Amino acid sequence: MNETLLVTGGAGFIGSNFVHYWLRNHPDDAVVVLDALTYAGNRDNLKDLENNPHFHFVEGDICDRALVDGLLEKYNINIIAHFAAESHVDRSILAPDSFIKTNVMGTFTLLEAFRNYYPQLDGNGRFLHVSTDEVYGTLDANDSAFQETTPYAPNSPYSASKAGSDHLVRAYYYTYELPTLITNCSNNYGPYHYPEKLIPLICINILLGKSLPVYGDGQNVRDWLYVLDHCRALDTVIQKGKPGETYNIGGNNEVKNIELVRMLCQLMDELAPGLPVSPAQELITFVKDRPGHDRRYAIDASKIRTELGWEPSVTIEQGLRQTVQWYLDNRHWWEPLLSQDYQAYYQQMYHSHSSQL
Ligand code: NAD
Ligand code: DAU
Repeated sequence: MNETLLVTGGAGFIGSNFVHYWLRNHPDDAVVVLDALTYAGNRDNLKDLENNPHFHFVEGDICDRALVDGLLEKYNINIIAHFAAESHVDRSILAPDSFIKTNVMGTFTLLEAFRNYYPQLDGNGRFLHVSTDEVYGTLDANDSAFQETTPYAPNSPYSASKAGSDHLVRAYYYTYELPTLITNCSNNYGPYHYPEKLIPLICINILLGKSLPVYGDGQNVRDWLYVLDHCRALDTVIQKGKPGETYNIGGNNEVKNIELVRMLCQLMDELAPGLPVSPAQELITFVKDRPGHDRRYAIDASKIRTELGWEPSVTIEQGLRQTVQWYLDNRHWWEPLLSQDYQAYYQQMYHSHSSQL
């Protein structure tokens, strides 16, 4: 049977990769994207799908209940894949309001709309909530990796808002028997990653000859997941996941930030001759740390592996090489994103970290 998906946040980084992935792998399904096109949303991410009759784009806010109700009915949606969120930790520290609105109230609005609509689906519906490993808090070097049973302990306004939304999604399964699924994944990377996040920021700054800001001592660890491996995992959870369950998704690629930055510098030296500053490592600058900076994230993905048969396929070396090449080949994509607004954010964010930036 063909499915019709409502993909919220489908013009963002992971959402747009997911839409491409889905229509490539399920060409007879239909995908409706609902996206507010905030600073992080970009229609260019979906440009090549504009003439695809199975693809529809709607600009709008997930907090708009009437709009969401209308879309579920109009398109006969049976799967909601919910990516829309304010996603950047540093911005949540500067101004948390929109995080509470979109991540908590927006998720609540979608759940209420789905609760109202679900009885029409005769049991053939799914609500996938895409969440983060940050809800589990931070790990010390010797702690074992986050499992689905690890208690929640969010440390930033961003992760607290995501934790709040996860709890709502869980409650709608237990209280209203809605077929909800939650995934908590580690740091994604790959094409269409907005320039404010570590990997694209480092790639772009190397190409522009700008300082590479590394927070604190650079020893914080993230568990990197190639975005298309993540999309394949979400497909697996939609098809085979058990409603009411949570699945952790990780890349099995723990790397210290400073090591990651050095790897990116080496790749750029190799793949982009004629850089403004070479070797690129000369640009590395240690700056003031992020407040409440989680020390280490690591995902134990054994549940999705053993129960649903998913495993990551891309190593960090392969994924970073592909990603660096993508930023080299797609300057026309990222250059317009370095707008006045972005420069103002960059100034506000990094000026306080160091005067050298
Ligand atoms: P992103 O910031 O790149 O994209 C978010 C998208 O949501 C944008 O297109 C934006 O316009 C849209 N949006 C924001 N507010 C909206 C609203 N009120 N209504 C409708 N659309 C709205 O985010 P991302 O990195 O692609 O993350 C997607 C999801 O995955 C988020 O829920 C995030 O918490 C989660 N996640 C991300 C990562 C990661 O490494 N990027 C890791 C774990 C979990
Ligand atoms: O773990 C999943 C999370 O990964 C997602 O839930 C978030 O939406 C996503 O943004 C990401 O959060 P992080 O805070 O881990 O990602 P970010 O790219 O901002 O930072 C990665 C690491 O690099 C982190 O330890 C902070 C550090 N960093 C980041 C920036 C932007 C720097 O050292 N310098 C920087 O300039």
